[in-house]
Amino acid sequence: MASNTTRSAHLVKIITDNTTEVEAYRQEQGLPPLSLGPDAPLDVKYPPDVEKCRRAVIDASLELGDLATGPFELRLGHGWAVMTMFSVNQFICNFDIAHRVPLTGDISYDDLSKTVNVAAPVLRQVLRAGMPYHMFYEPRPGHVAHTATTKIIAREPLIADWLGMNMDIIFPAGAGLTEALKKEPTGSDPAKSSFMLAKGDGESSMFMYLEKRPEQARRFARVMGAIQKDEGYGERHLIDSWPNDLQTGKLVDLGGSTGAVAFALAEEFPGLEIVVQDLPVVLEHAQVREGKNVSFMPHDFFNEQPVKDADVFMFRLVLHDWPDVHVQSILRALIPSLRAGAKVIIFDDIMPPAGTLGLSLERHQRTVDFGMLTLHNSKVNLPRKASKFFSILTWESYLQIRDVEEWKEVITQSDRRFKVTDVRYPDNSRLSLIEIVWQPQRPGMHRANGQKRLAHATR
Ligand SMILES: C[S@@+](CC[C@H](N)C(=O)[O-])C[C@H]1O[C@@H](n2cnc3c(N)ncnc32)[C@H](O)[C@@H]1O
Repeated sequence: MASNTTRSAHLVKIITDNTTEVEAYRQEQGLPPLSLGPDAPLDVKYPPDVEKCRRAVIDASLELGDLATGPFELRLGHGWAVMTMFSVNQFICNFDIAHRVPLTGDISYDDLSKTVNVAAPVLRQVLRAGMPYHMFYEPRPGHVAHTATTKIIAREPLIADWLGMNMDIIFPAGAGLTEALKKEPTGSDPAKSSFMLAKGDGESSMFMYLEKRPEQARRFARVMGAIQKDEGYGERHLIDSWPNDLQTGKLVDLGGSTGAVAFALAEEFPGLEIVVQDLPVVLEHAQVREGKNVSFMPHDFFNEQPVKDADVFMFRLVLHDWPDVHVQSILRALIPSLRAGAKVIIFDDIMPPAGTLGLSLERHQRTVDFGMLTLHNSKVNLPRKASKFFSILTWESYLQIRDVEEWKEVITQSDRRFKVTDVRYPDNSRLSLIEIVWQPQRPGMHRANGQKRLAHATR
């Protein structure tokens, strides 16, 4: 008990100190105090130091709330509450309530009822169930109005897409997991994922399911595209974690797309000469900018690397797309062009060890990982080319969330002369940096021994 009291006092202090910082920033910026009221700004972006405070408030509040709730009530309440939130969201979206309630002012339940053809008492019952979760409120008896969290559904089509996708795809997938695992205990066949058992019609994976339903597929792609525009994927994180000894020399950016990341690096590190490689069709859209040391070269990274004198080869947000066997082929295609000491930088998703993140991020990461299981039975290697839909989906970025040990394994299994020398986790970044050095003769290794190992590793 004593330790809980201490912990709760500690959490209260975290909440007090960090909330003060967040509110001070808002005041400085002329923003209103934190609120979910109808006039609250819908999405405030904070600078990194204030964002850290905001995250601390969220994490500490979650934990303090759970501590105060206690084990019994915590287990009792969660499932039903989640179901209520889900069902009210579903109702709001399907009946388009967010657009039917005026953005300013309010509407009576009777008038709203006529537009959706649901009896007013039931409508009121459902909407009131959402109100403790900040969905709508009653500014006066018998009338309903927006809060900021429902206004955003009306204002931002993406939020409506996201909620729709949750209802049609994510929720049925999660609800069926236990039954799916009873039928397919290894959780390794995408055709028998929980989602496919709940909704599939004999397709080989969720992507094939979507391919047959273009409207849902487009919505899915819109949501995933937006997720990748998240600040957590910003180029700044790569720049901030970029190794000091690689700020000059020749860099090859494999799968570098139209060059946005390369130009950001070139801007920061003018001593770098950067070659962006990608497939020809992608490079047709290269964003060439004069006066920067960046050039473009069509190259399929499964073929031998043509640039022979580079100091560093980079894969940003590339290798997660590929199953282990393909990652190994991609890395091996570099080998004929690697001089001793050359580096390979992978900047990509790394699943952190369990329990090492703050509570809110840990919940988020585990939710995504759990979602992949329920949707795809993934952690397995999905048949990437199974669907033409893959080419537009940024969703693919979640297919292979390797933890750091899995990354090390796939790298060293490509060839033991690849040596992982550093792993960096930039603050607030969704992506992390793995630094690899090419060591053709590892220190202390006898030549004959080395050749034997090489023969084994590259077989
Ligand atoms: C998720 S995007 C990442 C783009 C960029 N590196 C970034 O960080 O924004 C993956 C990139 O890999 C490229 N790619 C896929 N297959 C490739 C191949 N066989 N050879 C070269 N590039 C390829 C794609 O065209 C795409 O630009």
